[in-house]
Amino acid sequence: MTRPNRLTELDVHLTAADAEAELRADARAGLTAVPKELPPKYFYDARGSELFEKITELPEYYPTRTERALLEESVAEIAEASGADTVVELGSGSSAKTRLLLDAFRATGSLRRYVPQDVSEAALRGALEALEGEYPDLELHGVVGDFTKDLAGLPTGGRRMIAFLGGTIGNLRPAERAAFLAHVRSVLEPGEQLLLGTGLVIDEPTLLAAYDDAAGVTAEFNRNVLYVLNRELHADFVPEAFAHVAAWEAEDEWIEMRLRAEKAMRVRVEELDLTVDFAEGEEMRTEISAKFRPEGVREMLAEAGFDLGRWWSDEDRRFALSLATAV
Ligand SMILES: C[S@@+](CC[C@H](N)C(=O)[O-])C[C@H]1O[C@@H](n2cnc3c(N)ncnc32)[C@H](O)[C@@H]1O
Repeated sequence: MTRPNRLTELDVHLTAADAEAELRADARAGLTAVPKELPPKYFYDARGSELFEKITELPEYYPTRTERALLEESVAEIAEASGADTVVELGSGSSAKTRLLLDAFRATGSLRRYVPQDVSEAALRGALEALEGEYPDLELHGVVGDFTKDLAGLPTGGRRMIAFLGGTIGNLRPAERAAFLAHVRSVLEPGEQLLLGTGLVIDEPTLLAAYDDAAGVTAEFNRNVLYVLNRELHADFVPEAFAHVAAWEAEDEWIEMRLRAEKAMRVRVEELDLTVDFAEGEEMRTEISAKFRPEGVREMLAEAGFDLGRWWSDEDRRFALSLATAV
C-alpha cells in the first residue's frame, strides 16, 4: 500500500502473469465458441470498476440502493446475530456498502479484521487506501483473487462472516453457483456465517431498465471488455461498432448482457494469433445476472450446507439479504 501501515496487508493470489494466462485461455475459448461468450470478470479493470461505481448511482439501477437500504435496516441485527470478529467480503469492489457492516460490527465490540477480496487490484487498492483513513484501528487484509478459485487462501482464525453482496452470485450459472457455495462452505467452520445479497425476480421492464440505462453507462461498461482485450491481447476490436444488448431470459430467470456486431467484422487478436469473424447482427454474451425466488435461495444455501437463519427483503420484493450459518 502507499501508506505503510502495520495493520494493512495485501495478498496477491492472482499475479499479473496468472491473470494474463487466464485471460488468454478464456478469450480463446470464448471467442471460438458458438455462440461467442466472454466471462464478466474481465469488465473490471480500473476503468470498468469506475464505470460499475457509476452504474450503482444510476436512477434505473435499483439493486445497490435497495441492498443499501436493507443493510441499513438490518446491520445491527446482523452484527448482533453474528458476533464475528472478521468480516470477509468477496467481490468487494469499492467496499462502499461495507462501511455499514463495519460500523455495526464495531459497535458490538467484536470486529477486529476486514478481509476484502476482489479480482480487480485497482479497486481493492483504492478501497483499502480509503478504509485505512476511516478505520485506523481495524486490521485490513486485502486479497487479490478470483472468488471462484482462490477461497482456500483466505485468512483463517477468529470467527468469520463472509459477505457476498451486490447480487454478484447471479453472475454465476446454476452449476457454478452450486460449486461456489459448496466451496465457500468448505472454507468455513460450523457456526461461521455467510451474508448473501440476491436480486429477486421482478417485472421485466424494471429489470431491463436496470441493465440498459438511458445515459448509456451500462453500454459503456459492457463495451469495456473489448477495450480490455485490445489492450491486454493486442486485439483490434472497434468497440463502438458493437451495440449493447440487455435481454430477460424468462426460462432461466436471468438477464443477459450481450454485445451485438452492428456490421460484419474481422477482428485480429494478435497475442492469441487468432482471427475472429463476426457476422452482422451476431451477439456475444458478456454477462448473465440471475434473479432468484425466496425458496430458491433457501434451497441453494441448504444444498451447500448452510442454514438460512434470517432473511430481509424490501417492500417491493426486489432484493434480499440472507444471513446463513454453516452447519
Ligand atoms: C457487481 S460488482 C459488485 C461490487 C460490490 N460488491 C457491490 O455490491 O457493489 C462485482 C465485483 O466482483 C468483482 N469480481 C467479478 N468477478 C470476480 C471473480 N471471479 N473473483 C473476484 N472478484 C470478482 C468485480 O471486480 C467487482 O468488484
